Amino acid sequence: MTGLLTPLSDAYLREIAGYFAGLDLPDLPPQPAGESAAVIEQGRRLVMQGDAARRIPACVQCHGKAMSGVDPSIPGLLDLPRDYLIAQLGAWRGGHRRAQAPDCMAQIAKALTSQDIGALSAWLAAQPAHGKPAATLPAPLPLECGGVVIGMYPPAAPR
Ligand code: HEC
Repeated sequence: MTGLLTPLSDAYLREIAGYFAGLDLPDLPPQPAGESAAVIEQGRRLVMQGDAARRIPACVQCHGKAMSGVDPSIPGLLDLPRDYLIAQLGAWRGGHRRAQAPDCMAQIAKALTSQDIGALSAWLAAQPAHGKPAATLPAPLPLECGGVVIGMYPPAAPR
């Protein structure tokens, strides 16, 4: 992916992103969790409330109350397969996925245990998708994230 994208201009990348953002794809059906009620509850709590004692902010503080992301730079957390969620958080923990510095997701993923990741991915993948990304967040981000500019671009025009 890096080799493919590096030679492309920002304008062309913006055009590609606009195309994908404008697609209206069917929602992925929620995946049944198959975990104990206690594990599912641990996952729900991490997503909705975080864990202050371990300095883990609630995921909803950045990904939005409906977890559908915030335009243009915070992706949604619903409608993603559980394996994908586990792989992304694992890649951030291991330094294989990086975002612009300061990389808030690397910080968060490193504070999560494998058990936390298993629990929150089970809960997230079992939720029905909630629709379009939010335009803005009600409060400032709990951690600084490089490259996140909320409300920077107007929403992509539908095609
Ligand atoms: C401080 C803000 C912030 C918080 C809190 C936060 N995230 Fe994120 N998250 C981001 C940003 C910004 C990105 C986009 C990173 C990039 O540019 O790749 C992201 C991306 C992700 C992605 C990648 C999605 C994809 O489509 O590849 C996952 C998965 C994710 N976050 C999960 C979580 C979970 C689970 C939590 C709660 C434990 C959480 N995030 C809390 C800011 C945050």
